[in-house]
Amino acid sequence: MGCRLLLLLSALCALLLLLLLCLGLLLRADSDLTLQWAERRGRCPERELPGMVVWVTGASGGIGEELAYQLSKLGVSLVLSARREHELERVKRKCLDNGTVKEKDILILPLDLTNRSSHEVATNAILQEFGRIDILINNGGRAQCSLIVDTNMDVFKELIELNYLGTVSLTKCVLPHMIQRKQGKIVTMNSLVGIIPGTACSGYGASKHALRGFFNSLYIELGEYPDIIISNIYPGPVRSNIMKNALTEEITKDFKYIHTLATSRCARLILIAMANNLKEVWISGQSFLLRAYLWQYMPSLACWISRVFQKQLRKILNDM
Ligand SMILES: NC(=O)c1ccc[n+]([C@@H]2O[C@H](COP(=O)([O-])OP(=O)(O)OC[C@H]3O[C@@H](n4cnc5c(N)ncnc54)[C@H](OP(=O)(O)O)[C@@H]3O)[C@@H](O)[C@H]2O)c1
Ligand SMILES: *[C@@H]1O[C@H](CO)[C@@H](O)[C@H](O)[C@H]1NC(C)=O
Ligand SMILES: *[C@@H]1O[C@H](CO)[C@@H](O)[C@H](O)[C@H]1NC(C)=O
Repeated sequence: MGCRLLLLLSALCALLLLLLLCLGLLLRADSDLTLQWAERRGRCPERELPGMVVWVTGASGGIGEELAYQLSKLGVSLVLSARREHELERVKRKCLDNGTVKEKDILILPLDLTNRSSHEVATNAILQEFGRIDILINNGGRAQCSLIVDTNMDVFKELIELNYLGTVSLTKCVLPHMIQRKQGKIVTMNSLVGIIPGTACSGYGASKHALRGFFNSLYIELGEYPDIIISNIYPGPVRSNIMKNALTEEITKDFKYIHTLATSRCARLILIAMANNLKEVWISGQSFLLRAYLWQYMPSLACWISRVFQKQLRKILNDM
């Protein structure tokens, strides 16, 4: 009897230790479990990506700029798009200085995501230059930082025009080409506020929720083309210019991100997701990662907790 009890106790202890270990890993994680596994055991970008023609939007700053630098070392052909051409020139120069990419393998293609009538022309310019588009990285976009009651309708409209419709439009231009070749990757920068509600960024979150709906539908509709990969990236706070560029600047207090992820780390994880054809990846430190798990798997509880403990919770989680 005593022996059995001892056995049971030690089994419980082992289980508890395992749980603590998992919790420890989760607290220290900066991405979801699948991506963590892919980083350790999966295919590496250095082997999978060379030779590809990659189109990056929003390449003039932030995450897109960093993606350009890391890609410029992988033997790909790069197309860099954004509105500010001189910034794209700067990024190109740095790619040439510090990457292995050659001048003829970088194309600068100024593009305004909100000017949808220019997207077809841009797509054709790339096909003319490189003959194909292997990967489209839908990265360009803008955030928002203002409470709903204070925000003008024009701001909500602009966020949908840019983040949602601009991305949909570009995707629709590239899609027929990928369908014709029966292959390609469309990688879209979503955001964890496309899964969990963010404070003071309702219009931004809504545009990202819209993208989530769109690309999940696209994934299903492309069922007969298994080699066209639809990949959605959900980062939490990453160091970039995004808050400086946010649509409304007045209410910044709630956006005191303490634990932001380095842009280079974020870009590296995106390349790993691309190399491993991951359909959905979450890239973030705590507390956002835990919140995303809660919203994904226990939405009613997450909703209740968020509302009841709004202030206290934010303080505790931000201090973590
Ligand atoms: N940083 C974060 O914490 C975070 C978290 C989750 C998701 N994300 C997502 O990651 C992506 C990149 O953000 P980031 O943090 O790198 O922001 P960022 O530093 O502000 O860069 C945004 C990029 O988008 C471009 N852009 C803005 N408006 C455009 C337009 N109308 N047409 C074409 N390009 C436009 C900008 O270039 P121009 O001004 O030259 O056009 C810039 O290159 C966004 O989709 C964002 O939603 C970021
Ligand atoms: C150039 O690349 C090296 C190695 O990849 C890196 O360590 C260094 O920081 C880069 N320098 C610049 C200026 O980006
Ligand atoms: C939009 O793009 C078209 C085609 O490239 C161009 O002719 C037009 O001037 C652009 N519109 C604006 C407002 O920039």
